Amino acid sequence: MWRLLELAPNRSLKRIAVLTSGGDAPGMNAAIRAVVRTALARGVEVRGVQKGYSGLVESNWLAMDRASVANILQTGGTVLKTARCEAFLSPATRLDTAARLRGAGIEALVVIGGDGSLAGAHQFQQETGFPVIGVPGTIDNDVYGTDDSIGYDTAVNTALEAIDKLRDTATSHERVFLVEVMGRSSGFIAASVGVAGGAEIVLLPRQPADVDTICKVLQDSAARGKYSSLIIVAERDDPQLTPKLTAELSRRGYQSRAAILGHIQRGGSPSGHDRILASVLGAAAVDALLAGHSDVMVGVRGEELVLTPLAEVTANKKPQPLEYLSLIEQLAT
Ligand code: F6P
Repeated sequence: MWRLLELAPNRSLKRIAVLTSGGDAPGMNAAIRAVVRTALARGVEVRGVQKGYSGLVESNWLAMDRASVANILQTGGTVLKTARCEAFLSPATRLDTAARLRGAGIEALVVIGGDGSLAGAHQFQQETGFPVIGVPGTIDNDVYGTDDSIGYDTAVNTALEAIDKLRDTATSHERVFLVEVMGRSSGFIAASVGVAGGAEIVLLPRQPADVDTICKVLQDSAARGKYSSLIIVAERDDPQLTPKLTAELSRRGYQSRAAILGHIQRGGSPSGHDRILASVLGAAAVDALLAGHSDVMVGVRGEELVLTPLAEVTANKKPQPLEYLSLIEQLAT
């Protein structure tokens, strides 16, 4: 469990808004619930913005009371819906949006989303002075300034459930399975399921996916009497990589099959870990606003909750977990 932040209130807020943006992630609902219930407990009204920044641009928001977030803690997806919004990329639209938020008596905004959504929040704050606070919500776990993001743990477990099943059939048929997992340009899901699923090889983004090297690993395995293997492929810009590698391995005599896990990794009931993380971060976001913070993201580092300026979050990239590759190799041999 994380040590909670002590945030003494030093300003009053009458009304705030909350939105979810970018790819949905299990636990977003738990975060919405925490924002709404914490705000109401502090005497602050909440507007739930529909469909991310699209709803913000269109003033599409609804009043949220305690009952509006009942029974959502355990559900996947986001009750506020989400979207990727082109219109919000225009500075004129952002200025207009801030004016309409102020006109509706909304004094601050909580944005739950990944790095793109948080970059949008930062830009919005910088250009309009409108108070914002970010909460990291993405299965990719690629947000700088936090060890963990809402949805990542659940996505890893969802992928693992599939991987364990694929291991059964790979072993029975002595086949090689190439399992493609999500993560955009980061390899956190791939590295985690590589360790937890006992993969023989993990191919991270921006790392070479060389067929000769893969074959050498497969030959070494065969020399030890092991004829089935799991290769985890982190998705990358070339969506054909996994099918191409599978075809090439088949051509070289390995019975190979591809399994692309896709959006299944974004769904499902959040794990206990994600429910706790989302509850803690959602509540801290409201308390941080009331303590006078803005243009920051609330995240976790080790056992601590931390506030990181959104400028820092958006200017930096979380390093890839490359050191896990040798651990995975070591444990597979
Ligand atoms: O950011 C979350 C994520 O699921 C990535 O892992 C993936 O690359 C992307 O979103 C897929 O986006 P879309 O749902 O727009 O296809």
